[in-house]
Amino acid sequence: MSAMQGGLSFGLYAHITGWGKALPERVVTNDELAQIVDTSDEWIRTRTGIRQRRVAVDPSETSATLGAKAARAALEVADIPASKVDMIICATSSPEHIFPSTACVIQDLIGAVNAGAFDISAACSGFVYGLGLAKGLIASGQAETILVIGTETLSRIVDWSDRNTCVLFGDGAGAVVVQASPVPGGILTTEMGCDGSGGDLLSLPAGGSKMPATLETVASGQHFIKMNGRAVFRFATRVMADATRRVLDKAGLGIDDVDLVIPHQANERIIAVSMRHLGLPDEKVFRNLQYYGNTSTASIPIALTEAIEQGLVKPSDVLVMVGFGAGLTWAGAAIQWGVPTQEKEAPFWRASQRAAMYNLARARSQLMRISRRLEGSLITEEGDTLTEVVGKRLDELRKSKKEGEKEEPAEKEEQGGSGEQ
Ligand code: COA
Repeated sequence: MSAMQGGLSFGLYAHITGWGKALPERVVTNDELAQIVDTSDEWIRTRTGIRQRRVAVDPSETSATLGAKAARAALEVADIPASKVDMIICATSSPEHIFPSTACVIQDLIGAVNAGAFDISAACSGFVYGLGLAKGLIASGQAETILVIGTETLSRIVDWSDRNTCVLFGDGAGAVVVQASPVPGGILTTEMGCDGSGGDLLSLPAGGSKMPATLETVASGQHFIKMNGRAVFRFATRVMADATRRVLDKAGLGIDDVDLVIPHQANERIIAVSMRHLGLPDEKVFRNLQYYGNTSTASIPIALTEAIEQGLVKPSDVLVMVGFGAGLTWAGAAIQWGVPTQEKEAPFWRASQRAAMYNLARARSQLMRISRRLEGSLITEEGDTLTEVVGKRLDELRKSKKEGEKEEPAEKEEQGGSGEQ
């Protein structure tokens, strides 16, 4: 945990310093969907704005693997190793399991050996809830480097015979690194709300403790998303505008101060109506739902990453991220952007260093699993189990590698090379 707990911690600002996305390769067009349900490209485009979506067709591609890929991309932009992360917050509506959390699976995949990890279940608002928690953890000195991830394989929980829902959703992941900084700005304010009385409007009824899996729940399709589209539409247009106003009010800002809104990418009409209520011109509202559909928790971090790639975010810009989802939930964040967004030139050895760290993380994970299987029968004279012995050895190895790396850039600088972080 953070070294700041000693005192300096309070009042620190939480800045997004890394961002990334991961999308499955397979594109599924509206015309393809029209071959499996009674719909058309024209209906989907005019009612939702969606033209295509990505689907994880390879079973080995999961919410955790996509989340880990996005997290690695974000760490690369922030130029920090996974071992520096002290908390992983994963928002997902399609977790790998009820438990362990998808965040823990990602922790293992990226080798974030010093991190705590947990999932947030706030549906499509989850990523912005995650930003709110990250800001709180940083301001209270409990963490200084946090990965906030939104990741989904909704295609696995969508009923592909239900035209009301299957045309809307897509798979993908996005992630940001949030870091403590003394520089004012970053995540200024957040708004997290819910109205549980609307829970039945959008739900996945079975598979939890209220309706455990049985042959009947499977046969009657209770493990798929159920939605009352019209009611969700009405709720969404209202809360998107309200939440935007509220986060801006809390930050002492007005609509005219906003440079870019990154709304949850659920439906073009929801975005258009709610932004019209706010009087925001189209060019200040980012959209990419035509390519990916509604990727739930992943939609905002994917959109942020693409907005940055398109040069739409600059230092000092005021951004609003705003979303809504099952629960019913809503969330908003006002952010004053604090870091350069142009690609940085990394030292030439950084990519191989990173690959080595991820290979080491994989090896560590495998060794820990094997040793745990043998555990019980093997205990050292000091009372340490084999797992503990292996863990200690690997930590020593990592520490000595880290020390070696600290010396390496210095040596390179002496030789005239770039030691830039
Ligand atoms: N293709 C063709 N027709 C479809 C269809 C599809 N994919 N899905 C629904 N329809 C039909 C309906 O059955 C209905 O037919 P009916 O009039 O004979 O009953 C008709 O189209 C109109 O349905 P309606 O619900 O009024 O459409 P809509 O304009 O409200 O659009 C949604 C439907 C789902 C696109 C829209 O309500 C919506 O986006 N809601 C919010 C959903 C959302 O964002 N969920 C995620 C929250 S995070």
